[in-house]
Amino acid sequence: MALGQVVWIQTIITCMASIEAQPVDLTAHDTYISGVPHEEFARLRAQSPVCWIDEPKGSGFWAVTKYQDIIDISRDVETFTSSQGIRLEEMTAEETAARRTLMEHDPPSHTRLRRLVSRGFTRRKVEAYEDQIRELAVEVVTDAVAKGDFDFVHEVAMQLPMRMLGRLLGTPDSDGPFLVEQGDALLGNTDPDFTDHVVDQADTDEFRLMPFRSPAGYALFDYARQQAALRRTDPTEDLISQLLSTTTDGSELTEAEFNNFFTLLVAAGNDTTRYTMAGGLKALLDRPHLLPVLKKASPQQWNLAVDEILRWTSVTMHFRRTATKDTTLRGVKIAKGDKVVTYFISGNFDEDKFANPYEFDVTRDPNDHMAFGRGGPHFCLGAWLARMELRVTLQEFVARIQSMEQIGEEARLRSNFIAGIKRLPIRVTT
Ligand code: HEM
Repeated sequence: MALGQVVWIQTIITCMASIEAQPVDLTAHDTYISGVPHEEFARLRAQSPVCWIDEPKGSGFWAVTKYQDIIDISRDVETFTSSQGIRLEEMTAEETAARRTLMEHDPPSHTRLRRLVSRGFTRRKVEAYEDQIRELAVEVVTDAVAKGDFDFVHEVAMQLPMRMLGRLLGTPDSDGPFLVEQGDALLGNTDPDFTDHVVDQADTDEFRLMPFRSPAGYALFDYARQQAALRRTDPTEDLISQLLSTTTDGSELTEAEFNNFFTLLVAAGNDTTRYTMAGGLKALLDRPHLLPVLKKASPQQWNLAVDEILRWTSVTMHFRRTATKDTTLRGVKIAKGDKVVTYFISGNFDEDKFANPYEFDVTRDPNDHMAFGRGGPHFCLGAWLARMELRVTLQEFVARIQSMEQIGEEARLRSNFIAGIKRLPIRVTT
């Protein structure tokens, strides 16, 4: 037997034996209600960094949990394609085509789509929004802390991303709650708090051509169509007008491309920043000595703190690729067509990359975390915007309080994809 085969068989045995000893189902949405199973990820990194995981209703996949392997896969778009889906869900060719966004494209077609909007999200562009973001943050935080006891997620963390995204899209502030509700129904499609059509519990077949198999797709597509019609008669400078402009190859987006792109922005631009902020606050509540430290922090120290919050929370826990050919990773044979899942949440706690990874260190420097992905063409479009929103909102929040404490259990999203705290009751004194 060839050496490669021996390694491969041994790897599978290690995977299965250990899973038997410590059964944590990474695919089950319920697993994450009690928090991220960090011990399981640590075990996988140590014993089986490229591990085959069976799925009850899928073909199974390779779980990749080491930092450098995740970067290598993200970079190698020829071997690991995004075009067949980027979450665990397996889609038919018809579903994939109907729901394709820039995330499910590889370069060069990915580049054509991304260039339509990327200039609005550069670091310099986002720096120009700081005053606007601060103005919104002051409004949101002042209202919240005046309440004394409140749910941080509802009153603070969800407010700012929604309002800022609306400003960028050029949609009225009054439509914000509608967009948030629909965005929540998409990314929360496995949580009964956010949808009546929980994908693993209800029959969602009639929505299978909609983003996230969710009826919210219809509402968002209708809204996108109305906004496009408005811009066609009255062009503006906002993101929606940019989506309607000509791409690098001289063509315009089809209606389906436009609808899906708009919906992606609503889904990606809201919940991720919200849950990162909530997870960051939870880390601070658990470490009361950090409040006075942050109250005195310089902008540079705040930037480090925000990156540590991003690493610590790793809200988008994984993305998936599909092997386009037979290949090997760490001696493990991966066959053409296999799903390969890169666990950013694990890479961000890889002991070979981060010293004391389970220590929440707001001075960590350097901090090359992969909360926004790393190394590949799909690196988060909204990374600078999210960082700015997190820094400014948390700065304004800690500046206005003398103390804070958690006054009830936090509640976590039921999802194997997004790690989110959806309720965080707190009390502050000012
Ligand atoms: C803390 C908040 C956020 C986190 C943790 C996050 C995380 C991520 C991750 C992990 C990816 C995929 C990276 C990869 O596959 O290599 C991604 C892609 C993306 N993100 Fe974010 N994101 C956040 C905020 C935002 C915001 C505010 C927006 C937009 C307004 C946004 C828009 C996007 C888009 C459009 C993509 C797809 C990019 C592409 O395929 O080229 N994200 N994000």
